[in-house]
Amino acid sequence: MNILILGSGGREHTFAWKIAQSKHCDKLFVAPGNSGTAAIAENVAINGNDFEAIKQLALKEAIDMIVVGPEDPLVNGVHDFILNDPETKHIGVIGPQKAAATLEGSKEFAKEFMMRHNIPTAAYESFTKETLTDGYSFLERLQPPYVLKADGLAAGKGVVILNDLEAAKAELKSMLVDSKFGQASTKVVIEEFLDGIELSCFVLSDGEHYKILPTAKDYKRIGEGDTGLNTGGMGAVSPVPFATKEFLAKIEDRIVKPTIEGFKKDNLPYVGFVFIGLIKVGDDPKVIEYNVRMGDPETEVVFPRLKNDLVEILQAMANGTLNTIELDIDSRAATTIVLVSGGYPETYNKGYEITGLDQVTDSIPFHAGAQLKDGKIVSSGGRVLAITSYGDTYNEAIKKSYQSIEKLHFDKMYYRSDIGFDL
Ligand code: AMP
Ligand code: GLY
Repeated sequence: MNILILGSGGREHTFAWKIAQSKHCDKLFVAPGNSGTAAIAENVAINGNDFEAIKQLALKEAIDMIVVGPEDPLVNGVHDFILNDPETKHIGVIGPQKAAATLEGSKEFAKEFMMRHNIPTAAYESFTKETLTDGYSFLERLQPPYVLKADGLAAGKGVVILNDLEAAKAELKSMLVDSKFGQASTKVVIEEFLDGIELSCFVLSDGEHYKILPTAKDYKRIGEGDTGLNTGGMGAVSPVPFATKEFLAKIEDRIVKPTIEGFKKDNLPYVGFVFIGLIKVGDDPKVIEYNVRMGDPETEVVFPRLKNDLVEILQAMANGTLNTIELDIDSRAATTIVLVSGGYPETYNKGYEITGLDQVTDSIPFHAGAQLKDGKIVSSGGRVLAITSYGDTYNEAIKKSYQSIEKLHFDKMYYRSDIGFDL
């Protein structure tokens, strides 16, 4: 098979790394890819939202399957585009059609889906500019902290949590009236604050059947001890030690099953990954959010633990035969530490040369914001590398990643030295 991956981060390098190992993969393309994918696949300089260019590439290279990494091509309808064109409709697309991708594209849509299907989540109401004063009254009835969420995609920045009522009201006004997040905050969801520890659950769906991948936990804040600004993710571990068998059974019964049933009842075709952001409140799981893709950096710890041929799984997803697949999971733990460019998630520089990658032998260095330039590997984003290791325990794996990091260098390199501290 010829396979095309859309995206350019650590997640997509991990997809490429895993797919390149498959006996079913003939030619592998990544659009646009990074320096990591360049070494194992052919990078093509196409943006994932340029559907016409994707179609032309797919026809020229006889692509059989497109695996979509990030959410925005899905929310913009890449699957629908490929499916509705007679020239490309035979191509399997991994990632839901636009209707179901709205689960990530609109927080209100996701909340309504959960209410309709009795899926445990925080109580909420949503507001627009016209109902601003109702929003103020709702805030007055809640206990702090106040959780305000821009309805649409806001590059991971659309959730604001505040302790002070007046500050929360001002934030609501800024989102709704002053368009703080542009179009994304035309609507704002205000919800009950949930106090607990977070984890991520990844589900494979073929629209009819499902399989649950190993759990993972990511570390979203820039600073040690989970402080400072939110990032895309600074590190991850899998499995999650506090996700016991009993807790996982609750997740499956109360959340995964009604989610997959909900897709069918609501006529939302879903071939792809369901990323359920969960919080453990007491002994019970509640849903924080749905994403319609794999997590990054969670993919960098989940896929290395998957022993199956990934292409066989992807084919089963595309063909509706996921029930015939038995997942084979490595019993070792995997951890990843993300190396970022100093200043991230605020302003940072690009173009720093990365050295030492060839010295790393005990870990898998996945490339994220890194590109080839004049024969050198240079940083091209905030999150630059994700260093994944295995261990019999997660502590052992974390130690290996930190040892590997000592061999790596780029100017202003920063990473958290406390990944896993809370486990
Ligand atoms: P989201 O973009 O929905 O994942 O939200 C970003 C982060 O905000 C989550 O990872 C949580 O840490 C936090 N968060 C979101 N909703 C809530 C909530 N209802 N209660 C507590 N924390 C929340
Ligand atoms: N690591 C969180 C995300 O991918 O959204």
